[in-house]
Amino acid sequence: ITIRREDYRPPDWQVPEIALDFDLGAERTRVRSTLEVRRNGVHDRPLVLDAEALIIVGVTVDGSPVDYSYEGDLLTVPLAAASATVETVVDLAPRTNTQLMGLYESGGILCSQCEAQGFRRITPFPDRPDVLTRYRVRMTADRADYPILLSNGDPVGSGESEDGRHWAEWNDPFPKPCYLFALVAGDLVANRDSFVTRSGRKVDLGIWVREPDLAKTDHAMTALKASMKWDEDVYGREYDLAVFNIVAVSDFNFGAMENKGLNVFNSRYILADADTATDTDFDGIAGVVAHEYFHNWSGNRITCRDWFQLSLKEGFTVFRDQQFSADMGSAAVKRIEDVRMLRAAQFPEDAGPLAHPVRPESYIEISNFYTATVYSKGAELIRMMHTMLGAERFRAGTDLYFDRHDGEAATCEDFVRAMEEGGGIDLSGFRLWYSQAGTPRVRAALARSGEERFILQLSQDVPPSPGQPEKQPMPIPLKIALFGEKSGTKLDERLVLFDGPAHEIVFDAFGERPILSINRDFSAPVVVETDRTIADLAFLSARDDNPFARYEATQQLMLDTLLSAIAGSEADHAPVIEAVRETLADPALDPAFVAEAVLPPSEAFVGDHMAIVDPEAVRAAREELRSAIGRALEAQWRAAYSANSANRFEYSPAGKGQRRLRTVALNYLMAAGAADAPALAMRQYGEADNMTDRQGALAALVSSDAPERHGALAAFYDRYRGDPLVLDKWFTVQALSTRDDVLDAVEALASHPDFTLSNPNRMRSLVGAFAANQRAFHDPSGRGYAFLADMILAVDRLNPQTAARLVPPLGRWRRFDPARAARMKSALERIVASPGLSKDVFEQVSKSLI
Ligand code: ARG
Ligand code: ZN
Repeated sequence: ITIRREDYRPPDWQVPEIALDFDLGAERTRVRSTLEVRRNGVHDRPLVLDAEALIIVGVTVDGSPVDYSYEGDLLTVPLAAASATVETVVDLAPRTNTQLMGLYESGGILCSQCEAQGFRRITPFPDRPDVLTRYRVRMTADRADYPILLSNGDPVGSGESEDGRHWAEWNDPFPKPCYLFALVAGDLVANRDSFVTRSGRKVDLGIWVREPDLAKTDHAMTALKASMKWDEDVYGREYDLAVFNIVAVSDFNFGAMENKGLNVFNSRYILADADTATDTDFDGIAGVVAHEYFHNWSGNRITCRDWFQLSLKEGFTVFRDQQFSADMGSAAVKRIEDVRMLRAAQFPEDAGPLAHPVRPESYIEISNFYTATVYSKGAELIRMMHTMLGAERFRAGTDLYFDRHDGEAATCEDFVRAMEEGGGIDLSGFRLWYSQAGTPRVRAALARSGEERFILQLSQDVPPSPGQPEKQPMPIPLKIALFGEKSGTKLDERLVLFDGPAHEIVFDAFGERPILSINRDFSAPVVVETDRTIADLAFLSARDDNPFARYEATQQLMLDTLLSAIAGSEADHAPVIEAVRETLADPALDPAFVAEAVLPPSEAFVGDHMAIVDPEAVRAAREELRSAIGRALEAQWRAAYSANSANRFEYSPAGKGQRRLRTVALNYLMAAGAADAPALAMRQYGEADNMTDRQGALAALVSSDAPERHGALAAFYDRYRGDPLVLDKWFTVQALSTRDDVLDAVEALASHPDFTLSNPNRMRSLVGAFAANQRAFHDPSGRGYAFLADMILAVDRLNPQTAARLVPPLGRWRRFDPARAARMKSALERIVASPGLSKDVFEQVSKSLI
């Protein structure tokens, strides 16, 4: 059944209080739940509670048994009075819960995941975010197996029970939606610290892990304290409980979860040390720890009225974590990374069969809407408001929002209105960004008009998307600058709000030809097409003072070069080589920025710019360009390699930049075919005192013909076979290799004893990575598609959310030639025809076939 935004109705019953009593066990957990319910409005409807896969032991109202019904995941309880005490007793089986929603077991730990609709798998309840409840939780469990018992809020009591069992009670004073409920029981140890808030309250912090992982939690703790301070400084938001706990578990459907006072994390976003985590992992940990912490205000204190408003908390919180990471390191590099992510995940989504607005209109399964559009494009919407308002007025807007809606379940509209009133801006047209899907395309042409003047002509077009054939023009904030071709100076700089189908901006005489720098800082999430020449792009690549625009010019130069090579023209690599040479030689540039700027765009990104993607041609053109850059600048790559070979690992912006540039240089030496490059890689592998260098060397070897690659893979496996997070990397480097035999390797790895369908990280490390390897996945035989379809069907029986997330690569069939498209469609058809499909996979596959 399809749920529609327009059908929203307030809940029939509110539940101001709940007392939960858990008798915990992995085989069987009994949950006694006491709800204080209150009729909301005037009606005579019964109390209807969501209840999924529960064994109902009993139901009473005000102490007496009632005649309830349990059908189709709904428990209906007749109620006569306007308020009542409803008690339910149910049983569940955490050990056999492979969906990882509700209460489940991971590595001997019992833990919960409720967002979006997992609470109904724990106890009957009106499982919707606009029902706000005060929770009191009691847990009883075997002390030996589960010495630590955690829930939301503050601990209020604990003690012994009979038969080696013990109990603990927790109380959360803040009313919350049930998706923020959490419970953890297990044999855990904590990295403990504390934070004093700006008003002087002391908060006890704990990061809970299994004992052998304790040494890998310091980075997460540092990030947590930095986040708490940053939210006070930048948004004026203070933490509100005496305790803040984080638990890391190995089996988790996504990154992490912001449960009130008890965040639960995928262990990959907590555990790190130099030997096992890359710089990207360290960055990801800080970003996700911050993200979940920031949800305490943007999500928990103010939650969502319904799931169509998901971006209210996710878009805003992603924007907040992006700002935090920018402030902690290089803002320019962070912006480049975020845009790269947006283009890799969100632009294709927005252009395909699963496109939806940031505030969707309908869904079958809400889990399918935790998307790049809701998260990353949602964050871009907040960023555009920030750009238009400026930091100070934006803060006035968020102050009003937090103040006005604290303790409420709000909507995206509430946020926009607070921005308008607090920030002093009219956003009536801007609301289109929430309702209209599709990535706007902007054409920009700068032309001479008469002797003296120049005119910038802008036009836009928003492509049709499912259910939205006609589009209105969007209000697009474009940061623009003009540079003098001769003088090299900046002639003009402004923020243009382009909100019609077409617009002209007239510039008076500059005395020289201006060169256009547009969408600087990526001020709007749009595709910009310009008539800039190769020479213009080369100019900007060397001179633009906006780091993002400078990076972008180099990327555009490389993209144009690749596209014309693919189209069959004689490939002229010279301008790209010169641009890379200049970038490498510029002493003013941060190595981290250089490392980003000298890499050609990904194969997928190049494919996105073709009418019909030709994976072989893209691979060939890109490898040829890499090899040309490698050969022409071999001496420079050697110099960069040795200049950036820092001797001791330090996780710092400078250290990260050096490591990144060093491995980029190594890859160019490999691409150049330098005879000593494999030996260099082996030496880097052997001498590395950190995972970034080691994995970088391994990946370079695994994509080459160098015979050393076998030994390196075997050594890596032997060294890390006991560490699942590192073993994931071993699977991923092989799945992402540019060698021709990847498909064979991946099929073999799917039968490796360390491969398992039941762990989402492992699934993604092999299958998800493979589907992202454009050339290998789109093997003309169609074997890649069949492999993915088999995997989706196999994992769907265990874990529908993980299965559904693997569908989008197959849904891109319209972008490929008829032979490939037919094979992709038949893989989808085979999936949709399979009996017992989850609604998660059904929704994604059926929408992909339309
Ligand atoms: N709220 C969590 C976060 O963004 C993610 C929850 C994802 N839930 C889901 N059903 N996919 O931090
Ligand atoms: Zn989030």
